[in-house]
Amino acid sequence: MMSTTVADLLLEKRTQLKVEIKGWVRTFRANRFIALNDGSTINNIQCVVDFENFNEALLKRVTTGAALYITGELVESQGKGQSVEVVVSSLEILGDSDPESYPIQPKKHSFEFLRDNAHLRTRTSTLSAVMRVKSSLSFAIHKYFTENGFYNMHTPIITGSDAEGAGEMFRITTLDFKNPPLDKSGEVNFKEDFFGKEANLTVSGQLEAETYAMSLGKVYTFGPTFRAENSNTSRHLSEFWMVEPEVAFMDLAGNMDLAEDFMKSIIQYILNHNKEDLLFLDERLFNEEKSKPQAERSPMRLVEKLKFVTDNNFKRVSYTEAIDILRNSKPNKKKKFKYLINEWGADLQSEHERYLVEKHFKCPVILFDYPANIKAFYMRLNDDEKTVRAMDVLFPGIGEIVGGAQREERLEVLKEKMADLDISEEELWWYLDLRKYGTAVHSGFGLGFERLVMFSTGMTNIRDVIPFPRTPQNAEF
Ligand code: 4AD
Ligand code: MG
Repeated sequence: MMSTTVADLLLEKRTQLKVEIKGWVRTFRANRFIALNDGSTINNIQCVVDFENFNEALLKRVTTGAALYITGELVESQGKGQSVEVVVSSLEILGDSDPESYPIQPKKHSFEFLRDNAHLRTRTSTLSAVMRVKSSLSFAIHKYFTENGFYNMHTPIITGSDAEGAGEMFRITTLDFKNPPLDKSGEVNFKEDFFGKEANLTVSGQLEAETYAMSLGKVYTFGPTFRAENSNTSRHLSEFWMVEPEVAFMDLAGNMDLAEDFMKSIIQYILNHNKEDLLFLDERLFNEEKSKPQAERSPMRLVEKLKFVTDNNFKRVSYTEAIDILRNSKPNKKKKFKYLINEWGADLQSEHERYLVEKHFKCPVILFDYPANIKAFYMRLNDDEKTVRAMDVLFPGIGEIVGGAQREERLEVLKEKMADLDISEEELWWYLDLRKYGTAVHSGFGLGFERLVMFSTGMTNIRDVIPFPRTPQNAEF
């Protein structure tokens, strides 16, 4: 007797095999055909019961969502749609499912409805396909870095520093809210807090990753990051995962090469390893977009779009060039952008990023050399003293998917920048030490993992690519 997954059974060339299988009922048709799924593949195995051999009361309990243990014989399928099927010889109900109240009925559910049932939504074809692709991407990321000589490190989740300087942090404290200790000036005295100072959930592991890059050479961290920004968009989460490589002796050009090679490699991995899931998601997106006006449909199908990324060079464009393009663009002249681009120095919004990628260049774009005052303190100042060696990778349908930079390695320049922005040297003494002892050119970037999953699966809301999304006013499950 072979105990196998549905995925293995569907690939099995031998028939007349005795098999046993456990899974959940997707549908039960004509009191005869059970479509069983165990999560190992997008496809179900058809299990055929001869109702004359089974107790009627037992078959009544074969309802959508029930967990079954089936033994039987694998045979060539008589019907269309599958090459093999299981002729059931024994059937045990491992767990009943109440058909009246089970939320995941065999019909189309809206993503909003599925979000409310996030604990059960991976029992649908779409969400399970998304999560299998996501798991593959995670593996491909570790594989890429390991094969390219990077060391994996775990940067802390609890931290005292605001890496991005944007002040969007969640505080960690054990102080009594009703009765906090106060200092002489009447302010909350964090010296009495758990860590003896203010502490937060990290917004990025970069600063700590830099310490390891400056000793181990090539490192990356891949972990959860937290942002208390109040943006209720389809691309923002309060808790998301970031992949952050950091490399010593690498400049911005090297950083762009790394980002491009890395993105292509991990997308190629899922094209090779997740064909069935991607074809399913491709078809799903295509059908969903049929009901949209032509202008809102993607110009490419999902798999085509993924191949387009792996097969084409990313266009590298300076911020200054991009501003010229945007200023003279149709949507800017016709006042179609929500935020009009009038002058150099404007921060780019997702509508501008998407215009550059989707309408103007029609390929992934790497923008670099941004104005210093719209970027973080640690980015290396260019000789023009106006711009910094920042880079953002922009993808179709997403906008910014990667943000990175060559880091400021000159102690005096970094100190000046920190003073300008009121960032305390005492807090970041260890970060400054890296510039005192053997400083060197170094660079890195951060890839928003969920944004990568959105791009790779064609999902349009970031809440549908993470098991239990955390967003403003929402931390259910
Ligand atoms: O551009 P960001 O803020 O860059 C950093 O944090 C750098 N310290 C990274 C580095 O150089 N090591 O964030 C990096 C990426 C963004 O490009 C975006 O893809 C994603 O993280 N991201 C978010 N994803 C989901 N929800 C949010 N609220 C996000 N904020 C950023
Ligand atoms: Mg950014």
